[in-house]
Amino acid sequence: MVQMNTMELTKIVGAACGSLLIFMLIGFFGESIYTVDRGAQAYVIEVAEGEGGEAEAGSVDVEALMAEADPGAGATIWRRCAACHSLDEGVNMTGPSLAGVVGRDIASIDGFSYSSALSSLDGSWDYEHLFGFLENPRGYAPGTTMIFAGLPSPEDRANIIAYLESGGS
Ligand code: HEC
Repeated sequence: MVQMNTMELTKIVGAACGSLLIFMLIGFFGESIYTVDRGAQAYVIEVAEGEGGEAEAGSVDVEALMAEADPGAGATIWRRCAACHSLDEGVNMTGPSLAGVVGRDIASIDGFSYSSALSSLDGSWDYEHLFGFLENPRGYAPGTTMIFAGLPSPEDRANIIAYLESGGS
């Protein structure tokens, strides 16, 4: 009888130890899975934030787009500019002549009366400035007298800039 009780006690203790061990193992693996999960999640959030920030800044790879740009496709877009601009030197219409505009100082045509929005901008019409201005003229230079909605497509902007750079030929 005593023997049986001891045996039973041993079994009970053994079972208890066994389940304790299993609980500990589950806890251990659970913990490691949980930790890995959290690590992975934190990483994903970090990457997503990085991408979001870049998208918000509206950054486009200007160099890559210009490398792919097609002046021929830009000629089609030019028709919309030609209502107000000429590519001939010294010919100002509603807008100033755009002959040699790529790389030219901003608002630098003598005898054209620019808005203060444009004449107060520093620098020259490099790719970056043209990309910004042509995307949304009134957003880029609030108060500009260039009444043009803008070219939302980065490819369109690259193509028209390539056309301007080619001098329209
Ligand atoms: C409705 C008339 C109009 C249209 C259409 C138009 N522009 Fe203009 N553009 C202007 C005027 C006016 C200015 C001068 C703006 C100012 O002084 O604020 C100007 C200025 C510019 C300038 C700055 C030139 C300088 O000397 O600093 C560039 C570059 C330019 N336009 C490019 C374009 C391109 C490219 C297109 C076609 C995609 C276009 N514009 C369409 C009227 C127009």
